[in-house]
Amino acid sequence: MQHPESNTNRQFDINSYEDYKREYTNSISDPEKFWAEKATAFQWRKKWTKMLEWSFKEPDIRWFIGGKLNITENCLDRHLEKYGNKTAFIWEPNNPDEKTVHISYRELFSKVCRFANVLKNNGVKKGDTVCIYLPMIPELAIAMLACARIGAIHSVVYAGFSSGALATRILDAEARILITSDGAFRGKNQISLKNIADEALKNCPSLNKVILVKRTGEPVSLTEERDVWLKDEESKVSEVCPAEEMDAEDTLFILYTSGSTGKPKGIVHAVAGYMVFTDYTFRNVFQCTREDVYWCTADIGWITGHSYLVYGPLLSGVTSILFEGIPTWPDAERWWKLIDKHKVNIFYTSPTAIRTLETYGTELIEKYSLQSLKTLGTVGEPINESAWHWYHKNIGKEKCPILDTWWQTETGGIMISPLIPVKEQKPAFAMFPLPGVVPVIVNDKGEELKGNEIVGNLCFKQPWPGMLKTVYKDYARFKKTYFSDYPGLYFSGDGCKRDKDGHYRITGRTDDLIKVSGHLLGTAEIENAINQHPDIVESAIVGYPHPIKGNAIAAFVISQNQRNDSNAIKKEIASLVTKTVGPIAKPEQIYIVMGLPKTRSGKIMRRILKKIMLGEKKDFGDVSTLIDPDVINKIIQELSLVESTTQGS
Ligand code: WTA
Repeated sequence: MQHPESNTNRQFDINSYEDYKREYTNSISDPEKFWAEKATAFQWRKKWTKMLEWSFKEPDIRWFIGGKLNITENCLDRHLEKYGNKTAFIWEPNNPDEKTVHISYRELFSKVCRFANVLKNNGVKKGDTVCIYLPMIPELAIAMLACARIGAIHSVVYAGFSSGALATRILDAEARILITSDGAFRGKNQISLKNIADEALKNCPSLNKVILVKRTGEPVSLTEERDVWLKDEESKVSEVCPAEEMDAEDTLFILYTSGSTGKPKGIVHAVAGYMVFTDYTFRNVFQCTREDVYWCTADIGWITGHSYLVYGPLLSGVTSILFEGIPTWPDAERWWKLIDKHKVNIFYTSPTAIRTLETYGTELIEKYSLQSLKTLGTVGEPINESAWHWYHKNIGKEKCPILDTWWQTETGGIMISPLIPVKEQKPAFAMFPLPGVVPVIVNDKGEELKGNEIVGNLCFKQPWPGMLKTVYKDYARFKKTYFSDYPGLYFSGDGCKRDKDGHYRITGRTDDLIKVSGHLLGTAEIENAINQHPDIVESAIVGYPHPIKGNAIAAFVISQNQRNDSNAIKKEIASLVTKTVGPIAKPEQIYIVMGLPKTRSGKIMRRILKKIMLGEKKDFGDVSTLIDPDVINKIIQELSLVESTTQGS
């Protein structure tokens, strides 16, 4: 079913509060009709026969059943006739002295097709998983689309992860091919990605092909037969590559996110539902026109980069910026300079980045006009009110709405967000559920809290097209994590408040996951890393508030040998975590303690450690289940000892 106009110039469905109300009502009263209308704008090889079948009990959710399509035809091919020369990506390299690259939709199309042929030539087939471990260079987006072109599943691993984390993800996804680069530039640092990958691959014997992108030009050692350069491979193939016909429910990608066990979860997204949802949410939340320049600063290694740097903007055929560097190098003006240089209209970033830049003062900002900006967004963690006001005043010049978008790797796209035409916003509130999204707030017993002025656990009652399919190779974990705490509902793991006006405010995680600088980390994953240390018997990780990162990590560890060099142990622990998980997981504070607060069943009561980190000395709630309630006082004493010696030193 091809649409004659291929409707790539679609405007927005929500242009007023009335539109929002109407769309919302329609999406709930007849979701099948609602999403069918949204989906007709795409190119389908074959229309779906049934829109939706679902159950949250034995969770099984299927969208666009029987439909056939390829997402790259919707991201690329259908724009070519009218908009082939339009810029898809403006690539800004890390170093400001290096040339900016503009890639048109036509060029992107050719590059994707050629890369797809390289993959085929190297034995990749439909359904194979390809692991991608690349810095923020165009080849990262191109590699993802090349996979999608031939029906391979991409599994992107954030290039800031260590070799241990990369190996775990390669093994779990059963990837037989890795796409990486010689190195990466990141601010003043140069990171030898190939060396990290080689380290990881020592533990991944079934991965037998590495495609290397040349970025830094640093020397690398090549393993014969296994490692090939992309450039050499590209010269062997053509740039014509018909798109593979995919079933609507085929897997588009796996993306790993932390879980409450040490093992990350491979979140699986299917082609059609993900496509329709990211497109709908991108268009209606950001309201980006073809004349606009859009910039999402997220790394493509996270879901925000997948949905709102690669797929969403390309489905809409707009121009977006792909930035390799960091906001504070060569100076903390870099972003503001780029906004003026490219006349960015829509800017989407994280609260941590905002708080970091806030510390540099406003003088740097005043050198730039920032007049092109019309919309600002944030994602990834709760934004505190003072950061919101700072962003609104200094970057948005009090004229730009701030879209505080709440969503998750699992939801595929934005679920709760302020809406530009509604014009109503409250600092730190995500505000309105988008059409198709039915939030419910439940208490710890799972009872729905009706009405307003309530706080509880954020769940969803109905499926939405972008929701995850499953956890890769682990249906049981999928069911347990999202559908078992509150039967019949999808549980997000977040706390949430609905205020007197019915607006939503996210209060943060309620489980063992911690958001550090917007990155979701599991306590168990970090504890497992620390427990590898020969002197450590046991450890407990908790998050505590941090002015820039949102949360920082504190590690409480029990050492079996009474070593006198506690600082050396702490350093060893920090480097162990960096090596095993990545620098983002490094504990800010490490305390060597004699015991941990444990229940009779052996569970560590992290909430007590959290309270200790908040400075609480007396009120720890119900501690009757602790084996040794006195352990709390001992920890407090040990901590005050550490603090007094640190202050005294
Ligand atoms: C948190 C990121 C408050 C939340 C897209 C969620 C937020 C987790 C917001 C998912 C927001 C995301 N306000 N908290 N606007 N957006 N979160 O999978 O705890 O990396 O569950 O996806 O980030 O993180 P993930």
